[in-house]
Amino acid sequence: PLTSVIIPAAGSGTRLGLDQPKAFVDLGGSTILERCVHGVLDADINAEVVVVVPADLVEHAAALVPSAVVVAGGAHRSESVRAGIAVSGNADIVLVHDAARPFTPPRVFRAVVDAVLAGHRAVVPGLPVADTLKRVDGSGRVLDTVDREPLRAIQTPQGFTRDALIAAHADDSGLATDDAGLAERIGIDVHVVAGDPLAFKITTPWDLRIARDLVQEVAR
Ligand code: C5P
Repeated sequence: PLTSVIIPAAGSGTRLGLDQPKAFVDLGGSTILERCVHGVLDADINAEVVVVVPADLVEHAAALVPSAVVVAGGAHRSESVRAGIAVSGNADIVLVHDAARPFTPPRVFRAVVDAVLAGHRAVVPGLPVADTLKRVDGSGRVLDTVDREPLRAIQTPQGFTRDALIAAHADDSGLATDDAGLAERIGIDVHVVAGDPLAFKITTPWDLRIARDLVQEVAR
């Protein structure tokens, strides 16, 4: 079946400390957005790609990624995702994938799609957590140490049956930080498959430095 991949790229990227939206930042000659779209196409999952960008950058983005449908996003990530869903046709499987994760390996896309095809209505890639985790109050006092064994750091692409993603977004409190969080709230079981360190999200200047090193390494 046909798969739609929605790429929300309408964030401002203020935590990166640059003067342009994150998806349009250059990584060794092409933008984060271009690298992300090519990553989806390389995954060979028979996908149509929908890219969601700030309204004033729709034309610019359409020129950068001519193979994708480009639409304007909203003030919150979930609004941007809904703008993508609205133009995503009738694909049975819909993936939502942050533009900010341009190094996500093909294997992760395929694992997510395979798990949806196997019958899971909502699927996320996750990694074990390496650091010790503590809950801290506003004054910096440690309240307790959290058992990290059952915890996973969740990445994208997150995969859904079309009906599950639409149902999840029909009831948006504005609090969920990912799409699976919306699905959980309405009682949909979410299944975790193995993520990958390369699917990390470029958020801070440190992440951007790692990203630029990775691009150079591949080019060498
Ligand atoms: O801010 P954060 O890094 O969590 O954003 C994750 C993804 O959601 C990014 O690719 C960002 O561009 C996108 N986003 C969006 N619309 C917003 C806010 C974020 O498409 N209003």
